[in-house]
Amino acid sequence: MNIKMSGINKAFGGNPVLRDAGFELSDGEIHALMGENGAGKSTLMKILTGVYTKDAGEIYVDGQEVCYKNPQEAEKAGIVFIHQELNVLFDMTVEENMFLGKEITKKFGVCDRQAMRAEVKKILDTLGVNISPAASMDTLSIGQQQMIEIAKALMVDAKVIIMDEPTAALTQKETEVLFGVVRSLREKGVSIVYISHRMEEIFELCDRITILRDGQYIGTREISKTDMTEVVKMMIGREIGERYPERDVKIGDIAFEVKNLNCPGVFSDISFQVRAGEVLGVAGLMGAGRTEIMQSIFGNMPNVTGQIFVEGKEVHNKNPEQAMKNGIGFITEDRKTEGLMLEESIMKNIAITNLGRISKNGVLNKKSEMDMVKAGIEELHIKCTGPEHYCNKLSGGNQQKVVFAKWIFTDPKVLILDEPTRGVDIGAKKEIYSIINNLAAQGVAIIMVSSELPEVLGMSDRIMVITEGKIGGFIDRQDANQENVMILATGGQNDGK
Ligand SMILES: Nc1ncnc2c1ncn2[C@@H]1O[C@H](COP(=O)(O)OP(=O)(O)OP(=O)(O)O)[C@@H](O)[C@H]1O
Ligand SMILES: [Mg+2]
Repeated sequence: MNIKMSGINKAFGGNPVLRDAGFELSDGEIHALMGENGAGKSTLMKILTGVYTKDAGEIYVDGQEVCYKNPQEAEKAGIVFIHQELNVLFDMTVEENMFLGKEITKKFGVCDRQAMRAEVKKILDTLGVNISPAASMDTLSIGQQQMIEIAKALMVDAKVIIMDEPTAALTQKETEVLFGVVRSLREKGVSIVYISHRMEEIFELCDRITILRDGQYIGTREISKTDMTEVVKMMIGREIGERYPERDVKIGDIAFEVKNLNCPGVFSDISFQVRAGEVLGVAGLMGAGRTEIMQSIFGNMPNVTGQIFVEGKEVHNKNPEQAMKNGIGFITEDRKTEGLMLEESIMKNIAITNLGRISKNGVLNKKSEMDMVKAGIEELHIKCTGPEHYCNKLSGGNQQKVVFAKWIFTDPKVLILDEPTRGVDIGAKKEIYSIINNLAAQGVAIIMVSSELPEVLGMSDRIMVITEGKIGGFIDRQDANQENVMILATGGQNDGK
């Protein structure tokens, strides 16, 4: 199926978001769509699939002008959109979710559960995921939920699949599985629109790339005829140089220590130390228990035993409030349910973690609140109309920046980052890395969980690898490479280093 979009305009509340934007997709190609956070990628695809209506422009599908009124209409035409912000129905099982509205029925309209289960199993097998069709959606990790969304797209006989940040929550291994699936879809003539901020993935997987900047079409290139420098320049209008900024920090004393942390059935024997000014990267496969370990340090998991020390003093974090009081900050991987109040303004979200700083004797100082929020918006280049901008009206990557802004003013002694740059564009990633470096320079002990291996390798002084709820090993920065981290993550032996 080929698609041609041209002259697309779209404004929200008088704010132009797309200006003369365009995009062309050919039969059986994998076409990357790139651009900074807020450039308009998701919006352009939402216009194609009838989620939003365009203010101006034309859309041709196989030479016919179309204007889908809603996503169902687009889906009927064979265009499926896997959204960036997953809409998971938590109180459903995997198979109910996958067959929602498309149940296989026997005579008299009775659901044919057996047929449905067999179908679900078949699709999940193609994806190489080991999830029971009867599992409840809320027991799945974000990565697994993402896989289910992809599985849903495979169920429909799609001719075009739009994937908006599909690997943001996946690990290396799952990403490889996904790439296999995407390539075999291409062989069958399916076209894929691939939206991602992960440059390496785009160069590995895609045939062509189109770049948007500030809602405008900048250009299209064949991947084999371009390079990362050109792509970055098209995206942000300049070169950014080294992606991982230098960190010149003197590593200090042990600032944080965990001894024998255990949580039955989830993880065991977790002991590690982090020094002031040190960045400890935490790698591992999805489901290895990294997030759970971090959540329990932050007082957010039941049935945990073990000891936690901040600057040599034992602390007991029964809940996140206590953990915060004890000097621990936490930037969560799941901004949608834990990190952000989407229905609230940027201001409200940043203020809530900083009440101590901006109030005196329990009275909020409006001016310091405003100053702090403005500083956060500026420092992180959050693309918004101002402090009152609602978080659900921000682009995905800009939401992540707000999550970050919530914590940079809290002066933590230890800062835990769980997938800190998920969905964030390359320029903003570098800004976040610089902020991490600044915090380290101020003596904060940093623990950074990330599934993006280049990021772990580029940012960590030391890497702790978690495998199946246990520590697989530690690797120092100078010895670390993609390969030895993966070996440890999959349960292999450390090679003596
Ligand atoms: N429903 C909405 N109401 C108001 N503004 C919106 C809405 N949806 C998107 N926007 C604005 O439109 C702009 C483009 O957003 P969009 O989500 O398309 O960006 P994106 O390129 O997908 O970014 P990201 O990489 O962060 O996902 C942003 O500035 C965003 O704040
Ligand atoms: Mg987006």
